[in-house]
Amino acid sequence: MQSAKDTETKTAGRAQLLDGAVIAEQIKQDVAQEVRQFWAEEEVKPCLAAVRVGDDAASAVYVRNKIKACEEVGIRSEHHALPAGTNAIELLDLIASLNSRGDVDGILVQLPLPGEIDESTIIDSIDPEKDVDGFHPVSIGKLSMGRPTFVPCTPAGIIELLERSDISIGGTNACIVGRSQIVGRPMAQLLLQKDATVTICHSRTRDLPSVTRQADLLVVAIGRAGFIGRAHIKPGATVIDVGMNKITDEATVRRLFGAEADTRLAVIARRGYTLAGDVNPSEADEVAAWRTPVPGGVGLLTVAMLMRNTMKAARLRRGLE
Ligand code: GUN
Repeated sequence: MQSAKDTETKTAGRAQLLDGAVIAEQIKQDVAQEVRQFWAEEEVKPCLAAVRVGDDAASAVYVRNKIKACEEVGIRSEHHALPAGTNAIELLDLIASLNSRGDVDGILVQLPLPGEIDESTIIDSIDPEKDVDGFHPVSIGKLSMGRPTFVPCTPAGIIELLERSDISIGGTNACIVGRSQIVGRPMAQLLLQKDATVTICHSRTRDLPSVTRQADLLVVAIGRAGFIGRAHIKPGATVIDVGMNKITDEATVRRLFGAEADTRLAVIARRGYTLAGDVNPSEADEVAAWRTPVPGGVGLLTVAMLMRNTMKAARLRRGLE
């Protein structure tokens, strides 16, 4: 893949795609090597316990992808799929038993949980030593202090993507649209640690385009298909699209995908929907220098970084890091 160093003169124009699949594969191969070494030293494999509650179809797909990645890199996994009626006490019981098991290194509770279960109570109950999602207050507190800890996988994957693509962070104006616990806030902390000047925008930001247009690096995680268009993007910017929105109607496909629209409509005909990010790709490509595609961008990195965090948990728990 081309890196930013190869194209120092590149400013605006047809944006180049940052291929999440290539970088995710590199990260997984690095983890697979670490797993083999760990096996040679400890005669045990790292183990991830993935917990899911209810029948949310998207969550089922995400967890399946995580289990599949474990198989690819040699991490042992357990999939605890609890029925929709599960209450908080039952879920807390399961987490307590996973916390106390010596053979479980990482615990992941797929979000969102059914509305009746308070997510904070559940996240707080995970042993911070096994918090491979980096969602526990202990992990978030350490992250905000710049201390080593488990870092949430999506923002960690974005940093990996930028660094491995030779896109500079230090000294740039970075703007994050969205202030979620999973992406926006930890993303801001990581970019700050890498010496970017960071702005966080959200639903109450006034004149959003005037703010985002200052950004050399724009990260968007708001869950609104194609919301960020040409007016929001500085010429030559790097645009990271974290959105994953299901699109089923032809008008939206035509608005977002331009020359690719027919391929996307064929996907809808086959599967019932196509995935679009929060960025309008046709418009972004007119002004940005780099852009992550959806699908094929950030989502794959999230899973790869979960593998890395699980490997790290297994080493930390045995005093090896
Ligand atoms: N839901 C959306 N993203 C994530 C993630 O990274 N981890 C978990 N556990 N749930 C999610």
